[in-house]
Amino acid sequence: MKINFNKLDKLSRYKIISNLIVPRPIAWISTFSNNNSINLAPFSYFTPLSSEPPTLIVSIGHKKDSSQKDTLKNLRERKRASIVISTPQQTKALNATGASLEYGESEFDKFKIESETINRDYPPTPKDSKIIFFCQYLKEVELEGSKTVPVILEIDEVFIADNLIDKENLKSSFTDVVARVGNSYYKLGDEIDIEN
Ligand SMILES: Cc1cc2nc3c(=O)[nH]c(=O)nc-3n(C[C@H](O)[C@H](O)[C@H](O)COP(=O)(O)O)c2cc1C
Repeated sequence: MKINFNKLDKLSRYKIISNLIVPRPIAWISTFSNNNSINLAPFSYFTPLSSEPPTLIVSIGHKKDSSQKDTLKNLRERKRASIVISTPQQTKALNATGASLEYGESEFDKFKIESETINRDYPPTPKDSKIIFFCQYLKEVELEGSKTVPVILEIDEVFIADNLIDKENLKSSFTDVVARVGNSYYKLGDEIDIEN
């Protein structure tokens, strides 16, 4: 079966992309709102972009009323983000934070997610998060004719739980992560041994 993307509507394109470009990592993004409450939301149109400069890219859509999502507003105005790579134990909370709340209402409060501050210059993150990238808004990419806004974030610092990193060679065996396939959540499977 071959499908011409030009003949598909937006939802069908979403279904094909999100079910076939898999697994997608999920950025659980914490940002400062203007009333200093902390916003938290998941984004799976997310990927590393470059190691030099160290950058990530996340594609942010719009709210039902066409206004900007809180995460985008906060990135534009407050510039800083803490991005958690979440574990399967955090999936219920992660999924809950996909809800659209009033601007300034914190998902931490609404969904009773305990927070902690690992880095005082960046937004707090869900307690016991294992991997956190502390980032700054760098720039947006214009996608002509689209309401989706790809945002490039530069990584300033990373937090890695001590038991997940070999400090000598910076190798990490962190595979206890949540990924997105279509609208479902998955854990990573087995490592492939290419010698056998
Ligand atoms: C697992 C998951 C992945 C998501 N990925 C994206 C995404 O890549 N881009 C996007 O605009 N919305 C995505 N969403 C929807 C947003 O999380 C949702 O619109 C949320 O309300 C945005 O929150 P905010 O307004 O506080 O920024 C995703 C939702 C879930 C549950």
